[in-house]
Amino acid sequence: MDIAANINSIRQLRNPGLGLGLRSKHFNHILEQRPAVDWFEVISENFMDSGGRPRHVLRQIAEHYPVVMHGVSLSIGSTDPLNKGYLKKLKALAAEVQPLWVSDHLCWTGVNGLNTHDLLPVVLNEESLQHICARINEAQDYMERPMVFENPSTYLTFKQSTIAEWDFLRYMTEETGCGLLLDVNNVYVSSFNNDFDPVHYIQQLPHQQVVQMHIAGHQHCGDYIIDTHDRKVVQDVWKLFNLAWQLTGGVATLLEWDNHIPEFDDYHAELLKARQYMDALAMDQLTGTETKQPYEPGIAVSNPVDFLVHSMEL
Ligand SMILES: [Fe+2]
Repeated sequence: MDIAANINSIRQLRNPGLGLGLRSKHFNHILEQRPAVDWFEVISENFMDSGGRPRHVLRQIAEHYPVVMHGVSLSIGSTDPLNKGYLKKLKALAAEVQPLWVSDHLCWTGVNGLNTHDLLPVVLNEESLQHICARINEAQDYMERPMVFENPSTYLTFKQSTIAEWDFLRYMTEETGCGLLLDVNNVYVSSFNNDFDPVHYIQQLPHQQVVQMHIAGHQHCGDYIIDTHDRKVVQDVWKLFNLAWQLTGGVATLLEWDNHIPEFDDYHAELLKARQYMDALAMDQLTGTETKQPYEPGIAVSNPVDFLVHSMEL
C-alpha cells in the first residue's frame, strides 16, 4: 500500500464529533431512545465472533450512527506472525459495519498463540520500530485501508528502549501512513508512572495524523496511577485534552468507561463536558489542583471486552 496515499486518506477523515463507547448495558436505551450522540466506538472483539443479538444490534446502530471499530487483539508488537484468522474476521466486520476507521493499540497481547487479553507494553527501539512498522504495513495491506494506533497506558519502561514513545509513534506514521488515536488519559497515566512531561509528549506528536482522542477516568494510588476507566475525567486530563484539541485542530473524541458503567444519560453528560475544554481561553480558567481520590482495594486495569468482564464477574 502506498504510504503517501495512506497519509492522505488519514488526513481527509472528517471529525464526527463527540462519541461514546457502545456497551451492551445501553443497547435497549439506544435502540429505543435514539439519543443524540454523534457517533459510537465499538470494541471489535465484542462483535466479530458474535452472529447473535450483539451483531444484530450493531447493524441497527450502524444504520443510524457513524461507528468506529476499536480492537484489542491485533497484537501488533508480538513476535508471532500476524493472526490472519483474526484479520479475516476484522475485515468482514468492517465490511458489514462500514466504520469511519479501524483502530488498535501500540502493544502486544500475547505470544505462541496465547492471548493474555491485556495491552502489554513494547520495547521502543530501532529493531522494534522496524518490526512493528512491517506488521502495520502487512495489516493495512490485508485490510485495504490505513489503520489507527493508540498510545497505551504503561506502568514500566524497558532498559532496552532507546526511542521516546512520542517519537516512536511519529516514526510509525512516517513509515506506514497510519493514523494515531491519542489517548490523553493514557499520556497522563504513563507520564506519572514513568516520570515524563505529558505536555511535551503531546506537543511532539504529528498532529495531522491524529484522527481521534480518548479521555477517561483513572485511579490515583499515590505512588502510581491505574488506568481503570471507571470514573469521571480529572481536571488535569481535561487540561491535556484542551492542549491536544488546540494542536490537532479538533478531532473525534471518545469518553471510555468500562467498569462501573453509569446510566446512559450520566455517561453522555460526562462526555459533553468536553465542549467546555475546546476553547483556547479555557486553559486560563482551569485553575486549582486535583483532589486525590481515596485508594480502593481490589481495583483492576480496565478491560472493555464484554465476554471477559462477564467471566471475571462470575
Ligand atoms: Fe484508550
